Amino acid sequence: MQRFITFEGIEGCGKSTQLRLLSDRLEHQGFSVVTTREPGGSPIADQIRAILLDAGNRAMTPMAELLLYAAARAQHVEEVIAPALAVGKIVLCDRFTDATVAYQGFGRGLDMATILELNRLASRSIRPDISVLLDCPVETGLSRAKARIENAAGAREERFELEEMAFHEKVRRGYLELASREPERFIVVSGSRGVDETAAEIFDLVAPRLAGPR
Ligand code: TMP
Repeated sequence: MQRFITFEGIEGCGKSTQLRLLSDRLEHQGFSVVTTREPGGSPIADQIRAILLDAGNRAMTPMAELLLYAAARAQHVEEVIAPALAVGKIVLCDRFTDATVAYQGFGRGLDMATILELNRLASRSIRPDISVLLDCPVETGLSRAKARIENAAGAREERFELEEMAFHEKVRRGYLELASREPERFIVVSGSRGVDETAAEIFDLVAPRLAGPR
């Protein structure tokens, strides 16, 4: 049975909303679901998240950034993902190892072999069974992400939103490349349409793969 489901995509693609809607629907069907996110998902990993997304940290080097994502993931996998999967829960995770390949690899241009090795170590070789990629044009995603940041309380998590358009284009292309390499794992869905229509499509594609005990 396939239980580890990740959501991926560029800024503002709608993945967090869709993750919540899928979680609600699966719980309604009687599945036991854990929702979580990266970077973060546990108290220590959330502290690393604050460092990573602080717009004041523009001087962070790409390698320091990569290692912090790996550190946050190691903590999160150990404390949240591995224990939940071990007791048979469905885990829905907002971003995981593919984000590191897309952002630090395709986006920043860091060495892919290094990224893959760090991903393997930090994730304890746990791989998603299903990855939902919400794809949308960079302009659409960034305008949504900017609106969200303006309306959010607390620290402005905008270090990535402030990157050049070209960076986000590279990330988008990277995700599409990953999806084309593993079509059996990825479900690619348009993030440009209405929330409810997209949610229905995702549910229809994911549900048949969740046969087995709830
Ligand atoms: P979020 O906006 O989905 O909460 O993600 C936070 C930011 O972190 C987003 O800009 C993507 C970035 N990110 C990476 O660059 N590498 C990673 O491995 C992960 C998990 C996220």
